[in-house]
Amino acid sequence: MLGEYELRCVKCGRTYRADPWTIVCPHCGGLLEPVFRRKPLGVSWALFRTRKFGVWRYKELLPRVRPISMGEGGTPLIKIGERLWVKYEGSNPTGSFKDRGMTVAVSLAKEANVKSVICASTGNTSASVAAYASRAGMRSFVVLPRKKVARGKLAQAVLHGATIVEIDGPFDAALDVVMKVSGRESGLYPLNSINPWRLEGQKTLAFEIVDEIGVPDWVVLPVGNAGNISAIWKGFKEMRELGLIDKMPRLAGIQAAGASPIARALKEGLSEPIFTDNPETVATAIRIGRPVNWPKAFKALSESRGVVEIVTDGEILEAQRKLGKMGVGVEPASAASYAGYLKLLGREISPDDRVVLVATGHALKDPDAFPFPEPVRASSVDEAVEKIRGLAL
Ligand code: F0G
Repeated sequence: MLGEYELRCVKCGRTYRADPWTIVCPHCGGLLEPVFRRKPLGVSWALFRTRKFGVWRYKELLPRVRPISMGEGGTPLIKIGERLWVKYEGSNPTGSFKDRGMTVAVSLAKEANVKSVICASTGNTSASVAAYASRAGMRSFVVLPRKKVARGKLAQAVLHGATIVEIDGPFDAALDVVMKVSGRESGLYPLNSINPWRLEGQKTLAFEIVDEIGVPDWVVLPVGNAGNISAIWKGFKEMRELGLIDKMPRLAGIQAAGASPIARALKEGLSEPIFTDNPETVATAIRIGRPVNWPKAFKALSESRGVVEIVTDGEILEAQRKLGKMGVGVEPASAASYAGYLKLLGREISPDDRVVLVATGHALKDPDAFPFPEPVRASSVDEAVEKIRGLAL
C-alpha cells in the first residue's frame, strides 16, 4: 500500500516509507507531506475527463486504494459576478469540503484494517468522520469543544453513530486529546488535517477549479487549522509539475478577528503565528487558536505571493446575508471568504482579476447563526390570503 509515495517532513526534510500510521515526523515531530516517488505518467485533462466529475476523477494523483466513496467533490462552481465564482463545497455528501479528505483517509484506514477512528472538531470534520467511518464499518470517536459546535453538525455526528466526547476548552484542547490518545497502540486512527492523507484528498478542490475555468488569479478561503489552504496549494503545485497548468493563482487566507493567529502574524511580518488560548468568533468552524498546519500554510502563502485578511463577526454575517440574497447558502466560516474578498477588492485584488471564493460548508450546518425575523402570522386561510395580497401589492 502507498508504494507510489514517500512521506517528507516539511521541517527537517527527512523522508520515510509511506505508511498510513506515520502521521508526524518520527524524528522531529514536524508535519509530513506525501510526495510521489516517480512522476505519475500519462495523466492529462483528456484522461481525467473520461470520468465522473469529483475527487476520484484524479485517481492517478491519489493513493491507489479501493475508494470508500459517496460521490464527494464535483461541487458546483457558481458564477456570482463577471469574474467571480463560488466553489460550493456545501454540496458534498455531509455538506462540507471535509468529505474530499475523508474519502481518501478512510479508504486508506480501511485497507490498513483500522477498526476505530478519532478526530477533534469544530463540527464539520466530526460529521464527515462519523459518516465515512459508518460507511466503512468502523467505530468513530469525536472530541468537541463543549457548546461551540453548530447544531446541524452535532446532529450529523449523532445520526451517523459517533461516540461524542465534549471538552471544556477550544478545538485546540480537543486536538491535544486526539494526539495523545491516537496511535497504533490504542488502535485509534486520527483523522484531523494533521493526517497528510486527508490533505491529499482535499487537494482535488484545486484540480476541479482548473478543470472547469482554468487557473484563476485568486483563490480566497477561510483559514482555521490551516489544512485546506495547504492542500489547495499542493494541488496547484502538482498540476504545474505535471504540466497540467502553466501559471499559478495567488491565495488569500481569511481569518475571523477573534481567531486570527496566522493573519495577525503575517500582517505584522512575523515568521510564526500569534497563538491564542481563547479564540472566539461567530464562525465556530474556524474558532481555532493554535492551527497545527501553520508551517505548511505560511509556505503556501509565501510561495503563492498570497495575502491574509481579518474580518469581524459583523462582516462575516453581512457577507453571509449578501450571499443568501444571491441564492447561495453558506455557513458563517464560509462567508468569511466573501467578507475577505470584499475587503481586498480594489486593494490586492483588482476588479479585472478572476477570483474563486471557496464556500467550505452549507448554511444548514448552523441555522442558529442568523436572526429569524418575525413571520407574518395568520389564524385562518382567509386572513393569510388577505395579508399576502396586501404585501404583494
Ligand atoms: N470552513 C469550514 C466550514 C470548516 O469547517 C473549517 C474547518 C474551515 C473552513 C477551515 O479549514 O481547518 O483546513 O483551515 N473545520 C475543522 C473541523 C477544524 O473540525 O470541522 P482548515
